[in-house]
Amino acid sequence: MCGIVGYIGNQPAVVRLFNGLRELEYRGYDSAGLAVLQPDGLRCFKTVGKLDNLATKLGDYESSGPVTAIGHTRWATHGKPTEANAHPHGLTHSQVVHNGIIENYVALREAVETPFLSQTDSEVIVHLFERHLAAQAESTPNQRVESSSATDDPAIDPALAAFRATLDTLHGAYAILLISETAPGRIFFARKGSPLQLGFAEDGCHFASSDAPLVGVCSQTLYLEDGHWGVATPEGLTLFGADGSPAVLAPKPLPASSLAARKEGYRYFMEKEIYEQPRVLADILTGRLSKQAVLLDELDADWLRPIASVTLCACGTSYHAALTGSYLLERLARVPARVEIASEFRYREPVLDPNGLFVVISQSGETADTLEAIKLAKAQGLSTLALCNVDNSSIVREAERTLLLRAGIEKGVASTKAFSAQVLTLWLLALYWGQERAVLSGERHARELSALRAVLNVMQVQPRVHERLHRLSKRYLHGHGFFFIGRDLFYPLALEGALKLKEISYLHAEGYPAGEMKHGPIALADAELFTIALMARSTLYEKVKSNVEELSARDATIIAITTEYFELADDIIQIRSYGHPMLEFFEMLVVVQLLAMEIAIRLGNDVDMPRNLAKSVTVE
Ligand code: G6P
Repeated sequence: MCGIVGYIGNQPAVVRLFNGLRELEYRGYDSAGLAVLQPDGLRCFKTVGKLDNLATKLGDYESSGPVTAIGHTRWATHGKPTEANAHPHGLTHSQVVHNGIIENYVALREAVETPFLSQTDSEVIVHLFERHLAAQAESTPNQRVESSSATDDPAIDPALAAFRATLDTLHGAYAILLISETAPGRIFFARKGSPLQLGFAEDGCHFASSDAPLVGVCSQTLYLEDGHWGVATPEGLTLFGADGSPAVLAPKPLPASSLAARKEGYRYFMEKEIYEQPRVLADILTGRLSKQAVLLDELDADWLRPIASVTLCACGTSYHAALTGSYLLERLARVPARVEIASEFRYREPVLDPNGLFVVISQSGETADTLEAIKLAKAQGLSTLALCNVDNSSIVREAERTLLLRAGIEKGVASTKAFSAQVLTLWLLALYWGQERAVLSGERHARELSALRAVLNVMQVQPRVHERLHRLSKRYLHGHGFFFIGRDLFYPLALEGALKLKEISYLHAEGYPAGEMKHGPIALADAELFTIALMARSTLYEKVKSNVEELSARDATIIAITTEYFELADDIIQIRSYGHPMLEFFEMLVVVQLLAMEIAIRLGNDVDMPRNLAKSVTVE
C-alpha cells in the first residue's frame, strides 16, 4: 500500500524523507517521489521502480536551511505505475501526497476544467487547493502567509481556508499532506480512513503513514483520528476535528525497534495481514458500490456481452479463490464456469470455448504456470482478464483487462489478505456480470448488495474468537491428520483452511467435500483424526450435519465452526449468524487463518517464512 512521509525544519530534508521511505518499503510500492520547498522554490523528484532509482535521480541534491518537504511511495490503484502517476502531484505552487481513494474524482476533474498531468484520483486535490487559493486571493489581494506570521484561523488564513474548502469537496478515503509556496514552513494535513501520524523532534516536525519512519526519530507520536485536519509548523500544530472545531490529541510512545513498528504491534506479518483484512476489503469496495449497483470501471457491458462461458485458472491459494469464484459466477451471473489448476491446464491440450473468458488469478502476477496458461488461452483467441495484486506484473501485461486486488504487499508467505481480496473481487465481478445480464431478481440483487456492505464488519477479528483459538490450539498439536470439510462455497474454504495449516504448521491436513468423506477418507476416522467441520447455517446445514455425524460415529474428533450448539462437537468455535453464505464464508475464513497460525506458533515455527515455500513461484 502507499506510504507517506513529511518533514518541516532546518535540517537536510532529503536524507530524512529518504530514510522514512526506506522504512515504508516493506509495504510495497511501484514508484516513489518527493517534493522539497525552500526559499528558492519548489522542486519535485519522481521515479518508477525501486528507491535506488529515486536516489539516482536526486544525485547529490540536498536541502539547506529552512525546508518543508513531503514524500510518497505508491502502489498503483488508479492509473499505471508511471512517473507521471507517481506522487507528489503538483502545479507550479503546491504539491500533494495522498493515500486512499477519492471516489468522486471523475466529477471533480470535470469541474476543475484544467489539464491534468496524471491519471490519478489524487491530482485533483492540488488543483482544487490552488483554485480555492486563487479565489481567496481575489477576495483578499496581496495576502501571502509567511510561516512566522501565519495565522491558524481558517477564517483569516487563505491557505488554510483553501485547504478546508478542498477537503469539503472530497468523498472517499484519504491521508493527505500538502505544501505550498504561498505557505512555506507549513504542512497542511488531513486524515479520513487512511492512517496518518506525526511527531516532533529537536530537528522539527515529522509526518508518516505508520510508525516505522518515526522510530528512532521522535520519542512519541500523535495518531490522527478520522476527520482530523489542520496545519503543522516545526514548533507545533493546529488541529481541527471534522466539524471544524479545535481538537486535542495525547501523544503515544513509539515502538522500540523499526522491525516491531513494521509489524505494527503484531507478532508476525501474517497476523498483521489477517487483522488488516477489513481495511483491504474497504479499499476494494471504495468507489465500486452505488446505492443500487456494483460499479467496475475496468469492465464494460460491451466487452462482456459476447462472452458465453468462463474458465478460471490459478495456483495455490489463488486456485481456491478461483474455485470459490466458479460457484459465485454460476450462481449470480448464470455463466457456465470451470476451474483449472494452471500446472495441469498447460499440458492437457485443453479444448476452450472461443467465446469464453479466461480469468487468471494471481497475487504476485509472476507465477510461471499461471503466466503460461494465460498465454495459451490468448493464443486460442479467448478474451482474458487478470485478477492480480501487482500492477505491471507479467500477468497484468499479458491480460486484456485487469482487476487489481488492492490488497497491498503481502509479506507472510502463507497468503491471507490476498485471498480475501481475490474472493471479494470475484464476488463483485459475479454480481456486476449478473446485473449486466439482468439474471438476478431485484430482491436477490438487493440482498447481495447489502451483504457486500456488511462484509467489512464481518472480517473484523473478534478478540473473543482469537483468544478461544489460541486456547484450543494446544489440543491439536498431534494426531495423524486434519480433515477440513465443507460443502458448496465452504468446500473451497475447506481446501484453503487445510492449505494454511499445512503450509505453516507442517501437519498433515486435507480439505474435502463433506459429502465425499464416506467414499474413502472415512476409513481413517478415529479419535486421532481431527475434523474441522465448516457448518454454515446458510448452506446445506442439515446435510453437513449428517456428514459430521457419520464421522463422529467412528470416533473422529470434531471441531465445529458454526453458529450454534452442536452436541456431537468435541469443540465448538462459535461464529455470528448472518443468513448470507458469503458473510459466513468470510467469518469462517478468519477462523481457519487464525487457527492455522496459533497451531504453528505453538509448534515454534516461523509463521512468516515457512520451510520450503516461496512467496512467488516463477519456475515451473
Ligand atoms: C506460492 C505461494 C502461495 C500462492 C501461490 C500462487 O505457492 O506460496 O501462497 O498461493 O504461489 O501464487 P500467486 O502469486 O499466483 O497467487
